[in-house]
Amino acid sequence: MKTIFSGIQPSGTLTLGNYLGAMKNFVEMQEDYHCYFCIVDQHAITVPQDRLQLRKNIKSLAALYLASGISQEKSTLFIQSEVPAHAQLGWMMQCVSYIGELERMTQFKDKSGGSEAVSSALLTYPPLMAADILLYGTDIVPVGEDQKQHLELTRDLAHRFNTRYNDIFTIPEVRIPKVGARIMSLNDPSKKMSKSNPKAKSYISMLDDESVIMKKMKSAVTDSDGEVRYDPDNKPGLANLLTIYSLCSGESIETLEKKYASSGYGPFKEDTAHAVIKVLKPIQDRYEELMKSEELDLILDQGALQADRDAKKMLIKAERAMGLGRSRR
Ligand code: TYM
Repeated sequence: MKTIFSGIQPSGTLTLGNYLGAMKNFVEMQEDYHCYFCIVDQHAITVPQDRLQLRKNIKSLAALYLASGISQEKSTLFIQSEVPAHAQLGWMMQCVSYIGELERMTQFKDKSGGSEAVSSALLTYPPLMAADILLYGTDIVPVGEDQKQHLELTRDLAHRFNTRYNDIFTIPEVRIPKVGARIMSLNDPSKKMSKSNPKAKSYISMLDDESVIMKKMKSAVTDSDGEVRYDPDNKPGLANLLTIYSLCSGESIETLEKKYASSGYGPFKEDTAHAVIKVLKPIQDRYEELMKSEELDLILDQGALQADRDAKKMLIKAERAMGLGRSRR
């Protein structure tokens, strides 16, 4: 059985973009693969975080994974900082990374742009991400489109390590969904929907209630020609809503174009909101239950134990390959 690894940062409440571009696919894939899903809290601290808020976000993300359908029986769910091998291999992967290739990462350029107080970890974040993936002999990494460049670098680093030291790492494949790989901001469809955007109107949070979802959908930026048609170049706002509606309802974009051919944007936006609510409401109900239960901690404890056992094996191989420590293991 092939192995899957993916991670999400606990840096705020997940958006509909995280759900449609990543989480929803994780849930479907866990039926056919050996899966690891990680709460990457060490990635989150590459930018300053409030300590108590980070703790809350970690717990909330764990509950959202489970509420969305990640099951303890099928997958290993754990917190990155509870498995020390991630930081250990992360350092080793930094040693095989070049500054030039890290500086070329679009996300680094975007996040560091113009500011002087940029943490060095923002630059060295991709080797840690490579370590996350390589520790588990991962074959496939399901992510949204914004992570593609990091995955290409992971492949390069794995290949470089294998050639330079010993052939121990599986070269992972990236799996980006055909539809929904880049859900766009509601108020600026030229930007991706992001949990770090300060404008709450730009995204739908997975925990927004019905009236908020309806309001945000109604105020989503579209265009003035009034025709419900999928045309991402000329009608990016509408194309984004059609993508969201289609993924949430299971109806194809063509079906939706026909259904709303003569209705105008008002009813279309309202029904898009209903489709989103229908997906998120059951997740939110289960989330509330999980946040109150003790189940969550037990699942995370077991996940950390399992991941630690598996990751240690690869860490030892990597240390041997590089010649770290003594040769007694
Ligand atoms: P993060 O936390 O920013 O996002 C988590 C997942 O959600 C996807 N995503 C989106 N998909 C579609 N439309 C959007 N608007 C959208 N926004 C986010 C992301 O592509 C991602 O799949 N570096 C990673 C976390 C990470 C990781 C890993 C991922 C750390 N180690 C190892 C995979 C494997 C990140 O910051 O994702």
